[in-house]
Amino acid sequence: MKIKKASFITSSSDYTQCPPTGLPEFAFIGRSNVGKSSLINMLTNHGKLAKVSGRPGKTQLINHFLINDEWYLVDLPGYGWAKVAKSEKEKWGAMIHDYLKLRENLGCIFVLIDSRLDPQPIDVEFINWLGEEQIPFALIFTKSDKQSKNKTQSAIAKYKRYLRQFWEELPPTFVTSSMKGEGKEELLMYLQQLIST
Ligand code: GTP
Ligand code: MG
Repeated sequence: MKIKKASFITSSSDYTQCPPTGLPEFAFIGRSNVGKSSLINMLTNHGKLAKVSGRPGKTQLINHFLINDEWYLVDLPGYGWAKVAKSEKEKWGAMIHDYLKLRENLGCIFVLIDSRLDPQPIDVEFINWLGEEQIPFALIFTKSDKQSKNKTQSAIAKYKRYLRQFWEELPPTFVTSSMKGEGKEELLMYLQQLIST
């Protein structure tokens, strides 16, 4: 798939405020700073579509981007940012859990994971929650430019071994670098498949 057109539609603080559900939708989620917004900009060839920052917690709302007038790509606020107050974390939990469970046209959630890290409890907890809720998802290992290919491959193998403790079947996995464009074709091909089925 080629992305010819990408535009920001709206930011919502609740799933009921999101745009009408007539088009397929896919969302990026993961820890603050893992690279969700950067990946949206990389996929859409648009340097400044989604707001990026070195400071965690940049994305605060549910952000809808309309792609090729055909489907939505959604940038979500990250989890796991230590400096957030408990009340804020609870607000995040309610907003995101409702969105993920109740958004009718949501086709697949992409969980972004920093390819340099060992499995982190907060990510594994979230992945296990998606599994329990039977919400379809895929994994994206980000920032691959920050280490060698071998290191990334062994980190992914380790991650899969870890998840097999809990799950027999594992979701599709992708490796990306928003800086180098790695993983773009694979991800766009997968999205095309999801849209056409
Ligand atoms: P929140 O909105 O806070 O949840 O963060 P986010 O997941 O949207 O992360 P964002 O895209 O804002 O990126 C965080 C930082 O990581 C920025 O400084 C990016 O430039 C950097 N970054 C993101 N992706 C990559 C990548 O693939 N490679 C490298 N080297 N840096 C990246
Ligand atoms: Mg962001």
